[in-house]
Amino acid sequence: MTVLLLPGDGIGPEVVAAGASVLEALVARHGLQITLEQGLIGGAALDRSQRPLPAETLAQAKRAQAILLGAVGGPAWDRVDASLRPEKGLLELRAGLGLFANLRPATLHPELGGVSPLKPEVVEGLDILIVRELCGDVYYGEPRGIRVLDGGERQGYNTMVYREGEIRRIARVAFDVARRRRRRVCSIDKANVLEATRLWREVVQAVGQDFPDVELTHMYVDNAAMQLVRQPTAFDVMLTPNMFGDILSDLAAAVTGSIGMLPSASLNQGACGLYEPIHGSAPDIAGRDLANPLATILSVAMMLRHSLGAQALAERVEQAVTRVLQGGLRTRDIHAPGTTEVGTRAMAEAVLREL
Ligand code: NAD
Ligand code: IPM
Ligand code: MN
Repeated sequence: MTVLLLPGDGIGPEVVAAGASVLEALVARHGLQITLEQGLIGGAALDRSQRPLPAETLAQAKRAQAILLGAVGGPAWDRVDASLRPEKGLLELRAGLGLFANLRPATLHPELGGVSPLKPEVVEGLDILIVRELCGDVYYGEPRGIRVLDGGERQGYNTMVYREGEIRRIARVAFDVARRRRRRVCSIDKANVLEATRLWREVVQAVGQDFPDVELTHMYVDNAAMQLVRQPTAFDVMLTPNMFGDILSDLAAAVTGSIGMLPSASLNQGACGLYEPIHGSAPDIAGRDLANPLATILSVAMMLRHSLGAQALAERVEQAVTRVLQGGLRTRDIHAPGTTEVGTRAMAEAVLREL
């Protein structure tokens, strides 16, 4: 099995190095049989080959069992044409591999209860799984662009679109995973305003008929944002369209303490998966050994579980992370009085020692 490393930009290379060191340790000492490859994506690819997703990278990704990605984008490429932006490389990779199911678990590590901006009693026991549709919505909808109107004023436009089949397949994923959790799905939409999400609600409701043992509720996205802050522990599985899921997952991350803690898996109908932290390239801290590598290391755990068939090793990695937190080591984003601040590399080394 091949695992493709796509470090990308900003803190991407720093956190992927941490994730790769965990995979290497599992190969060296725990019998994991994989080969690591490296590839280019995002701004790093643009600088070398004029494309944010070179054909060679997509080919490497298609051959791999799993991909570990850091992050793409940054101020250096902010003036690049929309079709060539680093972020476009990631969107092309998701579409190219048909990765429609994005799982974003937002759980509170008990050791970080005091780091959340919310009161400890509000976040205690928090365990949400955001199931975000990843191949549709306004992200990919046509037509899109910036046009010049009569009179010379410019107008930017995008199109929110969803086909029934796209909604049905992600809804099934949400109901399936809910069966392995607390059997509750809350579907997020803006059905009071947007037709695309009225259809979303209708189709989710129909799919729900096949899962009578799972409780289904619907919530408007604005209310969902409010409830995530007011009473986040009320949620089990949140099923979301692409854009609402992007926004709500950053919100959920902050509620758990830091965006530097949240992993994700992006899956297609087959066994191949893309694993990445939900955060971006964090240009403000890039290259300074300040980034929290735990979201990426926990993404490696998701990879072991979902693509490499190594459940026991996934648990081992998660336990190592828990023990490091119990030991009091913290990167700056989760630092609190009474704990010891360490950098990206020292945090990764501590996880390796626990492993
Ligand atoms: P960001 O997630 O990069 O950063 C937001 C804030 O969170 C910053 O203050 C940053 O320092 C902090 N942060 C993020 N990850 C952290 C970590 N591991 N440890 C500690 N602190 C962390 O979001 P942004 O600033 O809006 O975007 C920066 C660039 O990243 C943009 O070009 C954006 O398009 C891109 N981006 C890429 C991805 C991806 O590749 N999947 C995701 C989000 C944003
Ligand atoms: C994420 C990011 C991406 C998204 C961007 C960089 C394309 O914000 O993975 O959450 O919006 O999906
Ligand atoms: Mn995002």
